[in-house]
Amino acid sequence: DESKAGVKGLVDAGITKVPGIFIRSSEELDRHRQNSNEPTRTHFRIPVVDLKEVRFQRAEAVSGVLKAAEEVGFFQVINHGVATEVLVGMLEAARGFHELPVEVKEEYYSREVNRKVKYGSNFDLYESSSANWRDTFSFQMIQSSETKNIFIIHQMYTCRDITLEYSGQVHKLGTLLFELISEALGLKPDCLLNMECAKGHCLLSNYYPACPQPELTMGTTKHSDPDFLTILLQDHMGGLQVFHQNQWIDVPPLSGAFVVNIGDLLQLISNDKLKSVEHRVLANHIGPRVSVACFFTPHLYPSMKTYGPIKELLSEENPPVYRETSVQDFIAYYESKGLDGNSALTHFK
Ligand code: SIN
Ligand code: FE2
Repeated sequence: DESKAGVKGLVDAGITKVPGIFIRSSEELDRHRQNSNEPTRTHFRIPVVDLKEVRFQRAEAVSGVLKAAEEVGFFQVINHGVATEVLVGMLEAARGFHELPVEVKEEYYSREVNRKVKYGSNFDLYESSSANWRDTFSFQMIQSSETKNIFIIHQMYTCRDITLEYSGQVHKLGTLLFELISEALGLKPDCLLNMECAKGHCLLSNYYPACPQPELTMGTTKHSDPDFLTILLQDHMGGLQVFHQNQWIDVPPLSGAFVVNIGDLLQLISNDKLKSVEHRVLANHIGPRVSVACFFTPHLYPSMKTYGPIKELLSEENPPVYRETSVQDFIAYYESKGLDGNSALTHFK
């Protein structure tokens, strides 16, 4: 089956033209369409939050996170406590997996939504009008004891140890960020953690091969994330952009930093105070580009728990914008609709 070789397989086979399934509408392809009325590109920069002194200067970190999460929905964090070797090792391991022979990779190939460890491309292939120029490899991480089980089954996967290490450290950082965000919302520090926002996470490694005609396709279609929070590690290639004030803004690679963004579910429970914004990845003549995204979402737990706007945040002037939903229902709706460029949130108003 050809598709098991992924987009990388196409490039390795030496194609010089992008197949039709990847080609976008001219509207989407006009990269600066949104800026067409602007005389110059903005000098706006994605905020950077320094967590170095977070133990002693908590208020600074909280206000930095609040401003970024309210105004932009995206920020980078530096001095976050995850060791450089772990970042470098994770990116290398992610790249290494995608560069394994197809015969090895295809053991993990699946289009099933609920597979715990899987490789593929374009989860929404059958809903979307055009495919993304990338391959992905994903793991669901639940908690350490269960995670071990997942990895014991998949011993062939050579990147097991670094992935576990990375997963643990990023989870710890996620815990800190949920505390800071809780405080930023004026809630008790453990509020979001008690709501189980960090209970499960999923790692997704993206591999964007060099593209012979990058102007015709996209690495990742514009979308917002369906989770509570995403912590992304990107390599030095660039291409990630965020839609902010009607323009596509680059998220420049910052060595050693993580990119953090608010997901739809955090926008929902914050009753629109925090913003889950659209982002995309441009295809590039050169490559590969590698990124590893960590999505915080408890949807892997069979739970009847429902989420709606947090009561403490509501008032007469600020009535609930959204109805209650289970995370499973939210994610199921998001996946069924595909990356069509519309927010899943409007369905839950
Ligand atoms: C994504 O948002 O799905 C991908 C982000 C990235 O690869 O930088
Ligand atoms: Fe995303």
